[in-house]
Amino acid sequence: MRQCVSVDFIPAHMAYSMPLMLLGTQRINGNAHLEIGGCDTRELAEQFGTPLYVMDEGLIRSNCRSFKTAFASRYPENEISFAGKAFLTVAMAKLCEEEGMGLDVASAGELYTAIKAKFPAEKLLFHGNNKSHSELELALQYRVGRIVVDNFYELRALASLAESLQIRQKILLRVAPGVDPHTHRLIRTGQEDTKFGFNLKSGDALNAIKEALEAAPALDLRGIHCHIGSQLLDAGTHIEAIDVMVSFIKSVQESTGWTTKELDIGGGLGIRYLSSQNPPPFDVFAEKVTSALKAAINKYEIPEPVLFQEPGRSIVGEAGTTLYTVGAIKTVPIPEEPGERVYVAIDGGMSDNPRPQLYESVYECLVANKAGEPADNVVTIAGKHCETDILIWNTKIGSVEPGDVLAVQSTGAYNYAMASNYNRFLRPACVFVKDGKARLISRRETLDDVVRLDVLPDTA
Ligand code: LLP
Repeated sequence: MRQCVSVDFIPAHMAYSMPLMLLGTQRINGNAHLEIGGCDTRELAEQFGTPLYVMDEGLIRSNCRSFKTAFASRYPENEISFAGKAFLTVAMAKLCEEEGMGLDVASAGELYTAIKAKFPAEKLLFHGNNKSHSELELALQYRVGRIVVDNFYELRALASLAESLQIRQKILLRVAPGVDPHTHRLIRTGQEDTKFGFNLKSGDALNAIKEALEAAPALDLRGIHCHIGSQLLDAGTHIEAIDVMVSFIKSVQESTGWTTKELDIGGGLGIRYLSSQNPPPFDVFAEKVTSALKAAINKYEIPEPVLFQEPGRSIVGEAGTTLYTVGAIKTVPIPEEPGERVYVAIDGGMSDNPRPQLYESVYECLVANKAGEPADNVVTIAGKHCETDILIWNTKIGSVEPGDVLAVQSTGAYNYAMASNYNRFLRPACVFVKDGKARLISRRETLDDVVRLDVLPDTA
């Protein structure tokens, strides 16, 4: 089984030339500039400033469609919801609606974004391992389609809240299936030892189902949910989890007589951060997942549940490119080969992309305004925070000088979403590009935004 490359420090003397990875609508135009969605990235940098998140709208839309088609053609009873935690703005929520996707939200903020986009409530799933009373109330009042209940505390709180509001709420119960995916330890969630969901082995999952059934009529238990991990580069762990979940559905049926109508297997499919990575195309993934599901349904003799999924990264990850402007470049001596390191500093870093610091994530980049040049200079891309916020260690790019535009690829998932104001940086703007047009979907913060929440306490 192929495993995720989550830690990939390439020593300077071993930095290798990677074939140029062009994703989605990326191409090199007649000026030897990187173009995305028909827009010249040098012009985008001039027009909107840098750092800039550039989202390839055509690729996002085609990913939504092909993910849906891949499953609908093999297992018609299914619902695909985009996991908003990967990338959410009001415009993105509207795009999801236009593409017929559901939307998974995991906080009051994400839910509020969906509400602002007038996203159809019935197609929302509400997640979280410690939802507050006010979050549950907001979700109930907006009549979200499904609340994915994580624990007994929430189950009881929701049952009484739904009853007091006289709302019958559809729910799924999140189960930890005890399947350990091979991915970075911080993005594993399906294993036994996790904060997420009802433990299956301990009997909590079965007890939660019994309790939820007794809580009727306030709660309408539709089914069970699991999410095993993220950036998974093959379907192996999904296949394992499906067998565990369907076997559990059977044992629940035997002990309670209740039939699970819906099975949600979360998200998790990985993307190419490096040209050497090779996640399965949607069709191959769908074939493996649906074959495993059909096999398990036959093996355990259960009625076909509706299959729910919540892909995030695989819908938007490769569609995002971050543009930076190159500033200071310095060469320092190092003890190991080749005896020096070239640091290329850019005008962003861990505030717009904390993933290298959090997960030792790896990226590829190119000089966007010299995209035709051979990539034969080994450099280390450094952020500008008061930290050693190296974005990419020892990567090969074309010749680079201050003022060039650097494009870091595959930054569409969990970059904009996890951006911060560390060092009181301004969070970057984000644009959708398509058919030669760029549309602003989130403006750059201003210095006034940085202090807008500050209050001078009374001195009296
Ligand atoms: N459903 C649930 C319940 C989840 O917790 C997640 C991701 C997804 C769906 C979407 O998973 P995806 O298809 O994107 O793998 N910040 C980390 C990723 C954390 C993922 C959290 N849950 C990163 O930057 O890699």
